[in-house]
Amino acid sequence: MSMDVLDAIRLRRSVRSYTPMPVDAASVRALLDAAVQAPSARNLQPWSFVVIQDRPWLARIGERAKQAWRDDPHWKGALAFADPGFDIFHGAGTLVVICTRDEGFAPIGDCYLAAENLMLAACGMGLATCPVGLARDVLQAPDLRASLHIPDGERAVLPIVVGHPAGTTPASSRTPPRIHAWLANGA
Ligand SMILES: Cc1cc2nc3c(=O)[nH]c(=O)nc-3n(C[C@H](O)[C@H](O)[C@H](O)COP(=O)(O)O)c2cc1C
Repeated sequence: MSMDVLDAIRLRRSVRSYTPMPVDAASVRALLDAAVQAPSARNLQPWSFVVIQDRPWLARIGERAKQAWRDDPHWKGALAFADPGFDIFHGAGTLVVICTRDEGFAPIGDCYLAAENLMLAACGMGLATCPVGLARDVLQAPDLRASLHIPDGERAVLPIVVGHPAGTTPASSRTPPRIHAWLANGA
């Protein structure tokens, strides 16, 4: 990996357009290795992973998620969920689901740190990512948990698609840091 970490932080985007080129297994392993370098409370490392690179499976999970959102009273009428052309995985051929054990001090936070490591590493490797929170809840369904071998006491926290970016994605805006206080010596 050659990219400076600050460049990766600056250049990472949530990418929603991918080429059909698959992500090779060695790259996926490198991303998982980057993920597990994240800090975790009491070093409990609560994360675990499911990797899906099977297009029919991605389509099945995507359709289940869309169906669930279509039925959700909050989102009823949201056109995208009824659109057969809308792929919640944005055409990516690799999905990494970060899962966690339901115990420990801050398991969800730990997993989000692992997620950011994974996404920055992908950026450094010339790959693109997008977190897909929309797919999280459907992955708690008992049949999907069973198919994906997610054991009892663990659950999906954040699905992230990975792929080769098609085109460029502009940066989304950020507000400057809101700093409530900055207590320095002698101030
Ligand atoms: C927890 C989480 C869930 C997200 N879920 C989705 C999603 O389901 N679909 C999607 O296209 N983007 C999703 N995003 C991406 C955000 O929309 C994106 O991070 C935000 O707009 C800022 O853009 P950037 O990541 O390119 O800087 C998610 C991001 C996070 C952190």
